[in-house]
Amino acid sequence: MLARKHPEIRKGGWYVPSNFTKLHKVAIIVPYRDRKKHLSIFLYYMHMFLMKQRMEYGIFIIEQAGTRPFNRGMLMNVGFLESQKMGTWECFIFHDVDLLPLDQRNLYQCAKQPRHLSASIDSMAYKLPYGHIFGGATAMTLEQFTKANGFSNRYWGWGGEDDDMYRRLWMMGYRVKRYDMSIARYTMLSHSEAEPNPKRRPILENATKVFKEEGLSTLHYEVIELTWHQLYTHIIAKLDEKTTVDIRSNVANMTVGGKM
Ligand code: BGC
Ligand code: MN
Repeated sequence: MLARKHPEIRKGGWYVPSNFTKLHKVAIIVPYRDRKKHLSIFLYYMHMFLMKQRMEYGIFIIEQAGTRPFNRGMLMNVGFLESQKMGTWECFIFHDVDLLPLDQRNLYQCAKQPRHLSASIDSMAYKLPYGHIFGGATAMTLEQFTKANGFSNRYWGWGGEDDDMYRRLWMMGYRVKRYDMSIARYTMLSHSEAEPNPKRRPILENATKVFKEEGLSTLHYEVIELTWHQLYTHIIAKLDEKTTVDIRSNVANMTVGGKM
């Protein structure tokens, strides 16, 4: 058992290295539903990986309650807000449960610009499918994330929320960075492919116009369970659909500067 072998991992999945480090204190936020096998592999692997980097971190698993389509963006927003209540995290890493980093040079830290960590994934032949991809695992500071108004809450089902976040960051003047492809390598645990949300493209179309009015600032949810497990903090949240009201009608009056 990992927890017995490493008593330094505290309840809730928090780790504080014994010697002083100047590294950021990092919250790893993982949106989750119905992937038990992946979760146990992820937790074991990530603790081993992260402890070697000698930083303070905590792992937060944010599970979506109910049967509505998965809303990854909203779960990230919940994770951001809930983790904040439990510590002063300086850096947030938003991470899919099926991705495992393969290179220790891939530092789980934040920088002046947001970072797309999972650039080079085995199931994508270690290539970027397109230049602006921002899915999988990403790192943002508190400031970067809040300036973007968090993720959009409008993407129910697979896809789009990460592209939307890329645009938000761009509009706020951030330029996403990546480590070299030889460092940003990941393996993806196998799973059946989800059906992409057919509405994601039209929603994405007005992302840059509505992001200041929709996101972290309009998030509605309820925590229905919070448990400090040995290797992670588990939060089960009920996502409120109200958040995703169609805000197209507001768009015409808004003035958001900048170009994609
Ligand atoms: C989706 C993204 C996804 C990417 C790579 C895009 O079409 O909108 O959410 O990360 O494909 O799979
Ligand atoms: Mn996947």
